[in-house]
Amino acid sequence: MAEKRGLWGSKIGFLLAAIGSAVGLGNIWRFGYMAYENGGGAFLVPYAVALLLAGIPLMILEYALGHREASSPPLAFARVNRLWEPLGWWMPTIAFFGINLFYAVVIGWCMNYFVLSLTLGWGTDTGAFFMQSFLQGSGSPLELGGIRWPILIATVLTWGINWFICYREVSHGIEKASMVFMPLLVVLTLILVAWSLRLEGAWPAIRENYLSCDWKKISLYTDAGRKVWVAAFGQIFFTLSLGFGIMITYASYLPRKTDIVGNALLTCVLNCLYSFVTGFAVFGTIGFMAQAKGVPFSEAIAGGPGLAFVVYPEAINQLPAGNRMFGALFFLVLIVAGISSAISLTEAFACSIVDKFNISRQKAVTLICGIGVFGSIIFTTRAGLYILDIVDHFINNYALVLGGVLECVLVGWLLKAQVMRKHVNTCGTIRLLPLWDVLVRVVTPLMLLVVLGSALYQEFQGAYEGYPVVALLIFGGGVLLGGRLLSFVLSHFEWRKEKLRSHHTPDQEKLLT
Ligand code: ALA
Repeated sequence: MAEKRGLWGSKIGFLLAAIGSAVGLGNIWRFGYMAYENGGGAFLVPYAVALLLAGIPLMILEYALGHREASSPPLAFARVNRLWEPLGWWMPTIAFFGINLFYAVVIGWCMNYFVLSLTLGWGTDTGAFFMQSFLQGSGSPLELGGIRWPILIATVLTWGINWFICYREVSHGIEKASMVFMPLLVVLTLILVAWSLRLEGAWPAIRENYLSCDWKKISLYTDAGRKVWVAAFGQIFFTLSLGFGIMITYASYLPRKTDIVGNALLTCVLNCLYSFVTGFAVFGTIGFMAQAKGVPFSEAIAGGPGLAFVVYPEAINQLPAGNRMFGALFFLVLIVAGISSAISLTEAFACSIVDKFNISRQKAVTLICGIGVFGSIIFTTRAGLYILDIVDHFINNYALVLGGVLECVLVGWLLKAQVMRKHVNTCGTIRLLPLWDVLVRVVTPLMLLVVLGSALYQEFQGAYEGYPVVALLIFGGGVLLGGRLLSFVLSHFEWRKEKLRSHHTPDQEKLLT
C-alpha cells in the first residue's frame, strides 16, 4: 500500500521552493567573495564547467532518486541498498549540523545589519566596526570569548521563523513561503542591481574584474590555479544545495507525473543566472567605492566572509543619496534569500527524522529547531567567524563533494543509471539522454575525485588560512567525523518493515526496471 505523503500543491510551488533553496546567502555573500578571491572573471570558467559536469547531472540524479523512492534521503538510500543508509543520513546531518547552524547565524548578522543600515550605525571605519564592535572577534577560533547577544537574539529569531514555516505541511508552509519570498527576492534584487549599475565607476570595474578572464589564474599547472577549480566545484555544490539531501527530499513530495529534467535544468540555470546577475551588483558597487576613494579595485575590497559586512557598508557610506534605503535593500535581499534556503536545510533533516522514527512532522521540526538554537550558539561567540570559516571550508571542499561521488556510485552503479533514466523518461516529457548515464557513472565521479584529491593535497601544503592545526582538527575534522558517527548511530535504529518495502505498484515496478 502506498503511504499517504504530503505533496506540493502545484508544480510552480515545487519549483519556487527548490530555487528558493538554491538561491541563498551562497549566491550573494559567498559567491561574491569566492569570485573575488579566486580571480574575478576567471572564476566563472571553472564555475561553468562545474555546473555542466557536476551540477546539472547531480541535480537530475537527486530529483530522480527522491521522486522514484518518494522518501527522505536515508530511506531512499536504504531502499536502493540497505548498507548505504548511513550515507543517506550523512547528507542531511551534515547539512543541518555543518551548515544550517552557522547559516542561521549569518542571517542573524544580516538582520543586525538591516537595522544598522537605517542609521548607518556602522560608522566610517566599517572594517573595524565589523571585527571589533560587532563581532568583537577574539582573534582565534580556540578563544570563544563571550556570546554576542545581538547576534544570538537575531539567530533565535531566525530559528523561530524556520520553525514557523516548517511546522506546517510542505504545501502550506514551505510552498506558501516560497511563493512570497521568490517573487519578492527577484524584484528586490533587480532594483539593487539596477541601482548598482548606475553608480560612477561601476561598469569599468565590472568589465576589468568580473567579465575578463586571466587564463593564468585557472591554470591546472599551478597550485593557485587548482585552488580556483576546487573552490568552483565547492561553490556549485553549495549554491545548488547538492549533497545536502535537500533536493532528494523536495522531489519526494512531487506527484508521479513530473518533468524531472525540465525542473532540474530550470533550477540550475536560474540559480546560476541569479548569482551571475548579483555579481554585477557586487563588483559594480565595489568599483564605485574604489573610484570614490581614489584607490585601485584590489585595495578597495576585503576578501573572505566579511565582504558583505565590510565592503558593502563602506560603499553605502559613499553613496551620494539614498544610502539608508540602499543598505536596507541589500540586507533585506540577503535575509529573504537566506531564510528560503535555511528552511530547506531544516526540512531535509526533519523529513528524515519523521520517516525513520515515525513521529509527527510538528514534533520533529520543534525538536530540530530547538537543537538548532543551542547548536548555533558557538557561532555567536567572539570566535564565531573563524569557526564558521573553518566549518564552511571543510564541508564544501570535502563533505558535499564526497557525498556527490557516493551518490553517483549508488545510482550509477548499484541501482544502474539506465534504470533511473527509464524512470525519469516514464514520468516526464523532456527525455533524459544516455549521455547522462556516462556522466553519472564515469565523468562526474572521476572529476569530483580529482577535485577531492586536489583539495586534500592543498590541505597538507599549509594550515587553511593560517588557523591553528588543532582548531582545524576540532572544528573541521570534528564536524566531518561527528556527522559520520551520528549517521551510523541513526542508521542503527530499525525501520518499520513496510517502510523499506518498495512503495511502487507491480505495474509501476515493471515500467521502472
Ligand atoms: N544553496 C544555498 C545557498 O546558496 C545553501 O545559500
